[in-house]
Amino acid sequence: MKKGNIALIGFMGVGKSTVGRMLAERLGRRFVDIDSLIQDSAGMPISKIFETYGETYFRQIEAQTIASATQATDAVIAVGGGAIESAEVRQILKDTCTVVLLTADLSTLVDRTRGNTGRPLLDGFDPEERTARMLSLLHARSEAYTSIYDITVATDRPVCSVVNQIISEIGEPSDQTVCVAVTGANACC
Ligand code: S3P
Repeated sequence: MKKGNIALIGFMGVGKSTVGRMLAERLGRRFVDIDSLIQDSAGMPISKIFETYGETYFRQIEAQTIASATQATDAVIAVGGGAIESAEVRQILKDTCTVVLLTADLSTLVDRTRGNTGRPLLDGFDPEERTARMLSLLHARSEAYTSIYDITVATDRPVCSVVNQIISEIGEPSDQTVCVAVTGANACC
C-alpha cells in the first residue's frame, strides 16, 4: 500500500498493542508503542503523567513522540486512543503511515478494559459510569477516527485472524512461521 509505516489507531481496548506486536513480527518490521515510549522517556506511568502534569501536557508529549516515531519508514506504530483528537497528529499519520483503524463492540471494549488501571480517562469510575464514559468518548472521537483510516478491521475475534486481514489488505508478503510460533496454532495463518 502507500506509505512506509503502519499506524494502528482506535479506542482503548481494541487491541492496538497486541495486534501491533504480532503484525510487526509477521512483517519483519519494528514495533513501536507510543504509550511505552512516553512512559520510558518520562520515567513514570501514563496515569502519573496525567496526575502530575495534566492531560494537556500529556497530549503535547504524545504529539511530539508521534512526530518523532513517524520519521521511521518501516515501523508498525500503536498510537494511544486519544491522540487522533489532534488535527496535527491526524495529518502526520495520514502523511507518513498506512492507517489501520481497529474497532470492537462497546461490550468488548468494556470487558477488555475492566479491572485494568493505568488508563486515567477511565480510572475512578464505577462500572456503569465507566461504560457511559466510554460511549461518550467514542462518540466524541468517532469522526476523528474515521476521517483518516485506510483500512478498518474489527477485533472481536482471534488476534491472528485480525493480523491476517490487515496483511491481506495491505498486500505485503509475511512470515507465517512467526504466526505459528506466537500463537502455537496455524489454523488461522
Ligand atoms: C488514552 C489512551 C491510552 C493512553 C492514555 C489516553 C485515550 O492508550 O494513551 O491513557 O485518551 O484514549 P490506549 O489506547 O493504548 O489504551
